[in-house]
Amino acid sequence: MEQRNQVFENVLDLVGNTPLVKLNRITSKFKGDFYAKVEAFNPGHSSKDRIALYIIEQAEKKGILSPGDTIIETTSGNTGFSIAMVSIIKGYDCVLAVSSKSSPDKIDMLKTMGAKVYVCPAHVSADDPRSYYEVAKRLHNEMKGSVYINQYFNQLNIDAHYHSTGPEIWNQTEGKVTHLVACSGTGGTISGTAKYLKEQNPNIKVIGVDAFGSVIKKYHETREFDEKEIYPYRIEGLGKNLIPGATDFDVIDEFVKVTDEESAHTAREIARTEGMFVGYTSGAAMQAIKQLGEEGEFKENDKVVIIFPDHGARYMSKVYSDKWMNDQGFFDSVNAAAAENIQYIK
Ligand SMILES: Cc1ncc(COP(=O)(O)O)c(C=O)c1O
Repeated sequence: MEQRNQVFENVLDLVGNTPLVKLNRITSKFKGDFYAKVEAFNPGHSSKDRIALYIIEQAEKKGILSPGDTIIETTSGNTGFSIAMVSIIKGYDCVLAVSSKSSPDKIDMLKTMGAKVYVCPAHVSADDPRSYYEVAKRLHNEMKGSVYINQYFNQLNIDAHYHSTGPEIWNQTEGKVTHLVACSGTGGTISGTAKYLKEQNPNIKVIGVDAFGSVIKKYHETREFDEKEIYPYRIEGLGKNLIPGATDFDVIDEFVKVTDEESAHTAREIARTEGMFVGYTSGAAMQAIKQLGEEGEFKENDKVVIIFPDHGARYMSKVYSDKWMNDQGFFDSVNAAAAENIQYIK
């Protein structure tokens, strides 16, 4: 609340310190209290603001970056947006190598935020010189003083959450948090937050959320990279077809897998029940809560914190488009009512 009366020097002062909001309806049939850490309140509307700011400031402290230098990353998603935002304020050039699969909307958004975007062919292997990984690496090697964020393999991604998200949740719950439920993409959010929380109380249970079609859950259970686990899925920012170096598997107790379809409906349900317009992976995290709740995971005095990583506005042509839902076959007879909640007056 205090923050509301303050005047800020620039948008970067608003990164972090996101609210923890009690869920009152969607979890009502489960025992315990449930709280969402609503990362859309960051100025770039996602948790990735935290890692962009932290990694860039660490590079400044080490003397690697000075104004006018270039920051490079390979994403058209939230991280790209956050890096572009931090670059504007701090006076860096931002170069993003993205896949040609990225939507024109996303590329326009990054360009609007001042980024230079290299659109690389999607259907080439990762080691092809035209792939966005290779293009980013080449640009990094060519540009003296540039920093390659490389979020999937950067320990600072974990550290960013260890120093911010973890302490915030501990303080906001006055040390009473019993469970942390978070999606795992790079793994930075869950790993850094869990590490901090478990240092305060080793009994806190940490549950990761993974997608069907991703190798992460099986790797956690067996330490085996099983290619057979890999197949296409729709949720972006969750799960992976490789083992990210930014995931600390030892601080995560278990993983739960969720489907594209149930996560999409649950994202819509969060909006309808709690009035929070959040992204697809927030739906996935909430879907995991439902599955765990059905299994009797939660007890009377539990305080469960769920990370909602970003804002719903980024998904208007996906989860929040009835046409998209229909095209995926996600509107069956049970859910058709949601699609019909509109009338055209002629
Ligand atoms: C929308 C969204 N949700 C969740 C995640 C997962 O966060 P992390 O990469 O820290 O595991 C990401 C990032 O990859 C994301 O973009």
